[in-house]
Amino acid sequence: MGGSTVLHTVDAVPLARVPPTSFRAVPTGISELDRALGGGLVPGSVTLVGGEPGIGKSTLTLQLAAEQVRCGRSVLMVCAEESTTQVRGRAERLGGLHDDLLVTSVSSIDGVVDLVDRHRPDLLVVDSIQTVHLASATGGAPGSAGQVRACAQRLVVEAKARGLATVLVGHLTKDGSLAGPKVLEHVVDTVTELAGDRHHALRLLRVSKHRFGPTDELGLFEMASAGLVPVDDPSGLFLADRSVGTSGSVVLPAMEGHRTLLVELQALVARSTTPHPRRSSQGVDQRRLALLLAVLERRVGLDLSGVDVYATAVGGVQVTEPGSDLPLALAVVSAATNRCLVAQVVACGEVGLGGEVRQVAGLERRLHEAHRLGFNRAILPASAPEPPAGMTAVRVDTLADAVVAAGLSPGPAGSGVVVSADPVVSTEPPPMG
Ligand code: TYD
Ligand code: MG
Repeated sequence: MGGSTVLHTVDAVPLARVPPTSFRAVPTGISELDRALGGGLVPGSVTLVGGEPGIGKSTLTLQLAAEQVRCGRSVLMVCAEESTTQVRGRAERLGGLHDDLLVTSVSSIDGVVDLVDRHRPDLLVVDSIQTVHLASATGGAPGSAGQVRACAQRLVVEAKARGLATVLVGHLTKDGSLAGPKVLEHVVDTVTELAGDRHHALRLLRVSKHRFGPTDELGLFEMASAGLVPVDDPSGLFLADRSVGTSGSVVLPAMEGHRTLLVELQALVARSTTPHPRRSSQGVDQRRLALLLAVLERRVGLDLSGVDVYATAVGGVQVTEPGSDLPLALAVVSAATNRCLVAQVVACGEVGLGGEVRQVAGLERRLHEAHRLGFNRAILPASAPEPPAGMTAVRVDTLADAVVAAGLSPGPAGSGVVVSADPVVSTEPPPMG
């Protein structure tokens, strides 16, 4: 008995010898969807489209299906959520009625797999993952966490085995809590979310996980009467109705993923009639607003007691990034002093509790976009990069400096900020130009 022979049942290989991936994204034919997905849908991959009810998930997936059919690929749509008649109605509206677009309202996964075997589609859409069920899975009714996960896991297996591109629609409540998309994130290859304000036309498709491409990409759409229309120059959309020469308005070159959007932030300051003045915000974070108001009181000397403060991001966007601090604070000062910034100025920077203005990411890109849209001055943190030629950077260390630089301080420039005792009723005409 030698005893020296060791049988290796497992082995490791040098990383460089592992064959490179050879997936190829197939363009969807919808420009903003392709942009968000980094080229299109990968055969065999499973993509989740999450979003609140009514935001446009069914619309987007039906448009995707119709576009694929137009490109000569076959599609099976599982519309367990609605009747096939309802889906036909939507397709007629979207101009997506086509013989090669198969639709079913079957809700059992075994039934879906059977249909896939019979029709061999190139794309499977399941709308929604909360309304299908798997007989072999325990864990209650369709929509329960157990069923949602089991159904998705089964569809992932089938997608990989067949090289079938699969799109799952998942409802997401405002806090993202309801069983569904959250339990699916680990199961699927790509997680996207369609978001927006239902009262506005703008829809953002964000990609938070992507095994076949970059995350943090963003697709932009406008909900129109004929479905979701790709928007490739969103800044125009946001600034179209801007009222230049009104106090309380400051433009932020915002970043959403890798894209820059110019967003107007507005503030309104009005005498309060209650002992607890109102601080109300829409599209900007309420807590961030409260913090900025405290910094304005303590570090800039702006008296905001006895006044209500309202703040909004115009156009139905949610602006949550730190770069919005400086323009939002300036908008409040502008509203409180009834003075306005010159029209061609943008502002961007994070504000610290000490009133200092801090650097934020992506300033170079933000400034280029602002310049492209005709802005020629930017109020920025001291360490900001050089702006493009033709644009002036006004560098500030503190919020108080920024107030002076923006022309919002009644005192002589550079003297620090002296805000009038009763700023709300100031009737001084705004200094323009
Ligand atoms: P829908 O795609 O059904 O939302 P979800 O599947 O996310 O619940 O569409 C939601 C809204 O979009 C609906 O209230 C009507 C509107 N809509 C349009 O404005 N234009 C259109 O062309 C379509 C199809 C829908
Ligand atoms: Mg729907």
